[in-house]
Amino acid sequence: MDLHLHTTGPLKELSTPLLVLPVLKGDGGQPTTPGHAGRELAGPDERWQGDLRWQPGSRVVSYRDSASGPRRVAFLGMGKEAGELDSEAVRRFAGEAVRLAESLRVTDLALLVPQSTTLDGPAAHQAAAEGLVLAAWRFRELKTGVGEDEAPTLVARATLVPVGGESSSEAEAMERGRILAEAENRARTLQSRPGNLATPSDLAQVAMEWGREFGLEVDVLGPERLRAEGMGALLAVAQGSAQEPRLMVLRHRGGDEGEPPLVLVGKGLTFDAGGISLKPPKGMEDMKFDMSGGAAVLAAMTAVAGLGIPRNVVGVVPSSENLLGASAVKPGDVVTTRSGITVEVINTDAEGRLILCDALDYALEMEPEAMVDCATLTGAVVIGLGHHAIGVLGTDDEVVKELQDAGEATGERCWPLPLWDEYRTQLESETADLKNVGGRPAGTITAAMFLRQFVKDTPWAHLDIAGTAYGEGTGVSYLRKGAYGVPTRLLTEWVLRRSG
Ligand code: BES
Ligand code: MN
Ligand code: ZN
Repeated sequence: MDLHLHTTGPLKELSTPLLVLPVLKGDGGQPTTPGHAGRELAGPDERWQGDLRWQPGSRVVSYRDSASGPRRVAFLGMGKEAGELDSEAVRRFAGEAVRLAESLRVTDLALLVPQSTTLDGPAAHQAAAEGLVLAAWRFRELKTGVGEDEAPTLVARATLVPVGGESSSEAEAMERGRILAEAENRARTLQSRPGNLATPSDLAQVAMEWGREFGLEVDVLGPERLRAEGMGALLAVAQGSAQEPRLMVLRHRGGDEGEPPLVLVGKGLTFDAGGISLKPPKGMEDMKFDMSGGAAVLAAMTAVAGLGIPRNVVGVVPSSENLLGASAVKPGDVVTTRSGITVEVINTDAEGRLILCDALDYALEMEPEAMVDCATLTGAVVIGLGHHAIGVLGTDDEVVKELQDAGEATGERCWPLPLWDEYRTQLESETADLKNVGGRPAGTITAAMFLRQFVKDTPWAHLDIAGTAYGEGTGVSYLRKGAYGVPTRLLTEWVLRRSG
């Protein structure tokens, strides 16, 4: 999307098909617009003034007759007092503005950006840019237009109007928001592609393209090198499929030579049928989203490079299908992981931890300062936290806390679960060092505990995104049904904060 900052002239003269103003809860519960912009635009006696509401979801659209200036002025209730404003409220307000533009079939809008003591100008502009760019995204690659009455409106251009006059830091913040949201949209597009069009080698192709575009070093390991590396667990998952596995490594060299990197690892399972431990058919099509962690890591790397973050950062994405071909791994099979740890595969549907353990072990060679992985790893996290929080677990309380804080800022919130040693007993195997499932109790924790066996003493945290990477798109204006791109902005924000 084309984003601009409005720098000169009164609102009345801003030429736009749609100017959107936020309505906040003012003194005595009265609806109020920042800087009394509503009054300036309409004059105090306009009849619709009495219809304004600050409550969330309230909308008033008025049409102006004057030949110049905004054609329409819309008022959207933000559901907040000025003193309660935060980034997420502005992101959602901007998203609502895009939805309104779509319903009016307007492709260009202007947005008055609210700010307050709790949310400064730059933070508000970053959030507004994010909300606009995220809300405007759609997956249209596979639509030909056949059967559609009308092509959907795509908002292509937006102007942000600062309440307090412009400043260079607001322009910078807007640009930062655009980069973050475009990266998240990049992840969404990748997530949305079906399994037949986004195989492990397709993902690797995309990683190479993004590497060229953003100046990342990309290395792709195919079956031969994976065998040479001894990645028996990743290879075992892939052996039931006609598609070859890949391991993608993306490097951003923003720091000094030899500075320990931050490492991001993402599960890139391009389709999870469950393997021999086959999943039930209902909703299985959603298992094309089982590469969401990988998509977020690839996309976060583009944001890290795009923002020029002064740190060494590495993204690692193991990628495979999980099918049930004639040579598929079977329950009871024992595989040797890259680390040397042997694993009894009790359930072939617990494949995410298998491809991740080899990737984590591989990443240890880089001697990371800290490592975060993200994966659509367990159905149990959806039972525990639903669709509103990422499950976070790790060996390092600092990293866990940093991710929680970054999640508050980005709206991609994380909630911790314990990773006590006691849970390790659920993974004990008769035959091998470990088994790949820990039974019904605490499924999200035992999955993380499995990964924990491979990270040694590296500060590490794991994000279980099975409930948050995609969904119905209800309740949050800047999401649609399908891919969410989560946790692209969260990972990038964590790296940003770590870079001081
Ligand atoms: N990809 C699934 C987890 C998942 C479930 C993601 C629902 C998104 C929505 C993962 O590979 C899986 O199948 N996990 C199993 C583990 C079990 C066999 C221990 C699960 O959660 O049922
Ligand atoms: Mn599975
Ligand atoms: Zn899976």
